[in-house]
Amino acid sequence: MFDSGVGGLTVLHECLVSLPHEDYVYLGDTARFPYGDRPRPQIKAFAVELGTRLVDEGAKLLVIACNSATAAALPAMRRSLGDRVPVVAVVAPESRLAASATRNGRVGLLATAATVASGAYGTALAEADPDATLYPVACPGLAPRIQAGREVDEVLVRMADEYCAPLRHAGVDTVILGCTHYPLVRPLLQRALGRGVRLISSGQAIAEEVERHLRIADLEAGRDRRGAYRFICSGDPEDFRRVGTRFLQLPLGDVRRIDVNSAPAAFRGRAVA
Ligand code: DGL
Repeated sequence: MFDSGVGGLTVLHECLVSLPHEDYVYLGDTARFPYGDRPRPQIKAFAVELGTRLVDEGAKLLVIACNSATAAALPAMRRSLGDRVPVVAVVAPESRLAASATRNGRVGLLATAATVASGAYGTALAEADPDATLYPVACPGLAPRIQAGREVDEVLVRMADEYCAPLRHAGVDTVILGCTHYPLVRPLLQRALGRGVRLISSGQAIAEEVERHLRIADLEAGRDRRGAYRFICSGDPEDFRRVGTRFLQLPLGDVRRIDVNSAPAAFRGRAVA
């Protein structure tokens, strides 16, 4: 399972709840975080690089626990790795959940600039419910602020209020948290949107997809065992361990650092095509 940083731990959490007997390797590409302001071809190259690495290390199934990577690279990942392992990804599962949750057909999306620009949620929601309308809002800076792991402050509250304002205005009754970091500040977003709005994240739907693919491919581990988990990152392992332990509420143990291909810094705060 991989993400640009610690956000994918929200996906790992759901898998640990549903499938505690499986073994997990989580890779956070913290050296090249954030992905959300990067051009699409670059995100695609990163995703294929990380996915290949995990499969080469023996992964039996791959979870893309990052919406920006899924939106940019899912078809490329399935092309390059799909004949070696099942590839499970975000975007489609939560779009289906949103389509079945909405009562007024107005669905909001909070996501990175790259994910919004990709149009992936528009396509996925239209497939799930052609009558629903998507109201996308790009949230530059939100994932980096969450990943910094600092105390929630007024700046973060203002940011959430500002990004949620157009959705309140549009009268959405359902909002997709289209970045795996955002469930980590779910209470903050729920307050900004109000009681009547249902928040949707990929969560349990992803765990069910993983279970289904393992069953079909006959790759399930025995249910009577307790699985192991380990963590890899490309940035500072101590930072990852500290923030990850708090978010996952599980001691991460030793975090291994790996080198990744170098890349220019992301253009923070700018929308991408
Ligand atoms: N967790 C990543 C996602 O789901 C986002 C943050 C980023 O790298 O910008 O899109």
